[in-house]
Parts: sequence; structure tokens; C-alpha cells
Amino acid sequence: MSTNNTLAHALMEVRDLQIFFSLGGQLGSVKAVNGVSFDVFRGETLGVIGESGSGKTTLGRALVSLVQPTEGRIVQDAVDPMELSAKLFRNHRRDYQIIFQDPNAALNPRMRIVDSLMEPLQVQGQKDRVEMEQIALDALIRVGLSHEHAHRFPHQFSGGQKQRIVIARALVLRPKVLVCDEVVAALDVSIRGEILNLFKQLQREFDLTYVFITHDLSVVSHISDRIAVMYLGCLMELGPAETVSENPLHPYTQALLSANPEPLPTHLRRKTRIMLKGEIPSPVNPPSGCSFRTRCPIAEPQCENFRPQWREIRPSHWIACHRADPNGGFIGESVSPTTSLRN
Ligand SMILES: Nc1ncnc2c1ncn2[C@@H]1O[C@H](COP(=O)(O)OP(=O)(O)O)[C@@H](O)[C@H]1O
Ligand SMILES: [Mg+2]
Repeated sequence: MSTNNTLAHALMEVRDLQIFFSLGGQLGSVKAVNGVSFDVFRGETLGVIGESGSGKTTLGRALVSLVQPTEGRIVQDAVDPMELSAKLFRNHRRDYQIIFQDPNAALNPRMRIVDSLMEPLQVQGQKDRVEMEQIALDALIRVGLSHEHAHRFPHQFSGGQKQRIVIARALVLRPKVLVCDEVVAALDVSIRGEILNLFKQLQREFDLTYVFITHDLSVVSHISDRIAVMYLGCLMELGPAETVSENPLHPYTQALLSANPEPLPTHLRRKTRIMLKGEIPSPVNPPSGCSFRTRCPIAEPQCENFRPQWREIRPSHWIACHRADPNGGFIGESVSPTTSLRN
């Protein structure tokens, strides 16, 4: 994959990644991630957007080695974690952390906050209690809480504060990469902005690289440098955040943006709404060729017969669509679907 990055390698290189979950016997498998390739660059925020069931969480878990590739590989800072010995793997994976939507699931209700914060260090084999406590207290301050919070229990905090504690818990390990999976989805809209700002601030302070997974367009357009669009286990489009959210070239991205005008800033709202026909197909039996073709307003026979190549349609702008044209519109059509599908 060509890049404009001057570094010898991206921080993470995902290549032809497939993650299938067997349903047992003759039932086949869920193709949760079905052949994706992309890089994650040091210091960036890569937003990953897609509808529920498109494979975002599975991809995120794979990026931090919580689930193994069925095929393909994820190279992390020039290391393939699947090739490490158990001991080296434990050490390596502390650099790759993940935070989920529900802080209640991440915090043990019977543990004081300070103990919850020290736990990841203990799991890593650290023994010096005084030092660990110092790291835990420092992390609390970094996320906007104070030392006096350290000896309380999770139920004594609001949802936003609990998510701050979960962020602190990931930070104690000083990771390189933080995968954030729907991390503001459960929070009141009024405090989402605060938490997103905290993420931005921590990124600068700790040199963090983020993969920010969400189904909410307003969240990714707010925080991302680049945006990847996922559908049924496949990547449809990936490029600079501004390009993907303002001038998407893939019919799926166009539909997704047109269906969510409300949370978007005015200049990103689309005047026409593209209605997708039908439901997302089952990831057990995804369509042949292009996985989006059964709902695509501009599908043609080749879309059924051939999987579109993942290609760099313009510099740093990747797409999987037979018909996308680098200048907008679609190959072989004088009218774009945006104008032909007014409703
Ligand atoms: N451990 C698992 N076993 C079987 N199927 C799974 C498992 N995890 C996820 N899936 C399935 O994989 C698909 C993608 O799920 P997920 O990655 O959670 O998507 P998203 O986060 O985009 O909603 C879904 O059909 C889901 O039911
Ligand atoms: Mg998910």
C-alpha cells in the first residue's frame, strides 16, 4: 500500500484481514471481517464508521489482539504479535489498548477506583505498590478527576466520570494505540463534547494514536483525521475526514451521509436523501462480488460477478467500487445517484 508517510512503516498495517466465527457443523461461519487492508499512522485518529453488525467491534478487538485473524495479518510497529512467544506477547500488547461503550462493564463495582487503576499494572507483573499507586493517581488527574476520587467506588460516579476512569485505566499502561469503540455512545449528548475534547488533549499529551469506532457520523467527523467506512465486514471507502464526509465517492458512504443529516454541521448536510433498499444481508452468506451491491442504487452485472478491487482512487483516498469515478459521479452514467434518487 503506498503512503505519503515519511516513516518507514505505518504504526499498524492491516493486510487482507479476515475474521470468521464458526457457527459449528454445517451452519457455516459469520464473516465478521471479510478481507480488509489499511494502515494506521502514528499520531492520527482513524475513524471507523458503519452500521451495527458491520464488523467494527470485531476489527477493533483484532487490532488489540483480543481476537485472532482467521486469515491475513496485523503488523503492529513492525511486529506480528501472532509470531511472539507468550512472554513477549504479554509485554507487546500493553501498547495496544481498547475502551468500550459501557464503563460499568469495565469497572469492578466492588473495587475502589485506585485498585481498578492499578490492576492492569499488576497483570503486567509490576510489584511496587507505591509506584503503582502513584501512576494510578497521576492518571486520575490526567483525565480531569482528583486524588480524592481514588478511594471511592464506581457507583459514586456519573456516567461521564466513569468513562474518564476507564480512560485512565487504559492510560496507566502508556499505550501507543487506543482503540475507542463507541466510547461516547452511552453518554448524555451534553457531556459527549467534553469527553471528545479530553481524548484530543490526551492524544497530544501522550502521543497517542486512536482508532475511533462509531456508528455516529457526528462523532467521527468531529474527531478524525481520516475516516474508514465499513459495510458487512468490508471497507467501502477510506480517506481524509474532510473528503470522505464532504465529497464521498462511494454510493454507500453517500447514502450513509444523506441518511444522517441531523447531527452534522450544516455544511455537511445533504439536500437529497438516498434511501437504501432492503436490510443488511446476513454476514453468514454475504452477497457475491461487491457486498453492497444488493442495496446499491447503481449496481450493474459486474458488481455481482467480481469483488471490486480496493484501490487508491486519488492520493490517500481508497475505495472499493467498480463504478466510482475519481472526479465524482459514476463511470458510465451522466447523472449521479444523488440527483436521480430524490425523495
Ligand atoms: N464472538 C462471536 N461469535 C459469533 N459471531 C460474532 C461474534 N462477535 C461478533 N459476531 C458477529 O459478527 C458480526 C459483526 O459484529 P460486530 O463486530 O460486533 O459489528 P459492529 O461492532 O459493527 O456492530 C455480527 O453479525 C455479529 O453478530
Ligand atoms: Mg460494535
